[in-house]
Amino acid sequence: MMSFYMRFDIITIFPHLLDSYTNESLLKRAQKNNLLSINTHDLRAHTNDPHNKVDDTPYGGGPGMVYQVEPVVQALEALPRDKKSTVILTSPRGTPFSQKMAKQLSKYDQLIFVCPRYEGIDERIKKYIDKEISIGPYVLNGGEIAAMVVIEAVSRYIPGVLGKEESLVEESFSQEGVLEYPQYTRPETFRGSWVPKILLSGNHKKIAEWRAKKSPKGAT
Ligand code: ADE
Repeated sequence: MMSFYMRFDIITIFPHLLDSYTNESLLKRAQKNNLLSINTHDLRAHTNDPHNKVDDTPYGGGPGMVYQVEPVVQALEALPRDKKSTVILTSPRGTPFSQKMAKQLSKYDQLIFVCPRYEGIDERIKKYIDKEISIGPYVLNGGEIAAMVVIEAVSRYIPGVLGKEESLVEESFSQEGVLEYPQYTRPETFRGSWVPKILLSGNHKKIAEWRAKKSPKGAT
């Protein structure tokens, strides 16, 4: 049976910014096993300007530069599109990213990220994007790390990305994917700090009760 395959595309002026991160650990293995691909696209390759300029000063005046709409749209149009794909603009003004959103996005075959830098992007891009996502109430230098956060959280839902070991851990996570109770491992005592005795008791019923009591209710 063909396994599910997900394609991620990132449009950026720094196509190598995420290279080392995406080529380690679980994401590396997932790409090797053909479960997903992460493709970066240099926005500067899609300008009509001889200096490959992608931004300009804002109409109406004011500080800084604004990404022009044309190179971004041309970059989007140059991309191969899978049947079920969606275009995401990373922006501090976007919808706050959540575990629930990660799960929903994992249903797509392809996620395309537009990652502006600096002051943002010409508002006319709105016609060409489907979603605007923020990873938190703070401002980053650009959207690349935000795209990476979304990709990593989404990729955990792709069958086979998490190995046996990681999947087992997954079972003790709540519906929202958040670890509910405190965990301990060897040694039993560290600089005077003990592992709760109940966890060493071998009494699984008591352990389950303790863990339920320690789980913050309604944590997301
Ligand atoms: N670009 C700049 N800041 C961002 C944020 N908080 N989330 C997503 N994209 C961003």
